[in-house]
Amino acid sequence: MLAELSPPLIAQVQDAAKLLASKRRICILTGAGISAESGIPTFRDKQTGLWENYKAEDLATPDAFARDPKLVWSWYQWRRKLVADKTPNPAHHALAQWQQHTISNQQQLTLITQNVDNLHEQAGSIVTHLHGNLWRNRCSQCHIPYINDLEGSKNSEDTINFDELLLTCPHCDGYIRPDIVWFGEALPVQAWQTAEEAAAHCEVFISIGTSSLVYPAAGLAQLAKQNGAKVIEINPDPTPNTIVDITLAEKAGVVMPVLIAQMTALQF
Ligand code: APR
Repeated sequence: MLAELSPPLIAQVQDAAKLLASKRRICILTGAGISAESGIPTFRDKQTGLWENYKAEDLATPDAFARDPKLVWSWYQWRRKLVADKTPNPAHHALAQWQQHTISNQQQLTLITQNVDNLHEQAGSIVTHLHGNLWRNRCSQCHIPYINDLEGSKNSEDTINFDELLLTCPHCDGYIRPDIVWFGEALPVQAWQTAEEAAAHCEVFISIGTSSLVYPAAGLAQLAKQNGAKVIEINPDPTPNTIVDITLAEKAGVVMPVLIAQMTALQF
């Protein structure tokens, strides 16, 4: 596997593996890029099909929903349809495997994601969601969760209702919306506390597949760095993240399995 990478990247993977093998507290933040190889477009990708004239940033906001709830609901139903049959890729599997290993190698690994798909869970990981969950809904007015069959049946497209008709809350008649953190909204308190604590106390922070543009999540790497952690970034494209110690400029699905195999080999 290692031999498939370019010589400079091999050296960087080896440096990263050595660093990780010698540290116990690891915090990992993932973004849309980790699911790209599963076939889910990232947020900075241009939208396709019916939605090609819209930008995600203009639809994923409370103002957009207040202005045109049907439009925003239709977009999410379309996204759900797009994600429904997608499965974890080697990067998700490698992380899940690593998490399972931490019982024997005594590392503490906190996995945090900005993604609303549940591919980390499907791979077997325990993960903290900062931006909510695509398969859950709640009332836009009274915030009470709206119970439906989405979560239990997300892999069987036949049984999911992708209807674009707006739903209303049985308690207050407000419109039902996806339980997702939109631009300008606060992050879930418990999830953010978990993320801040893990970032502030980790020895290595790994940023995977995120453009590092959206705060407060993008600030976690800085928090880790200020508290003495080394920062590794895995992304085929450059990001504005200037505090990175090791950059692995390759797709996560290519580099993660190699990195974790190398680290494990150094530990045993
Ligand atoms: N492996 C690793 N990284 C990849 C891959 C890949 N195979 N393919 C693309 N990338 C990188 C891109 O280069 C980009 O930097 O993934 C990043 C995806 O960036 P965004 O689309 O901005 O996704 P993310 O950082 O998760 O967005 C943050 O913004 O739209 C909101 O709430 C939404 O959670 C989202 C947040």
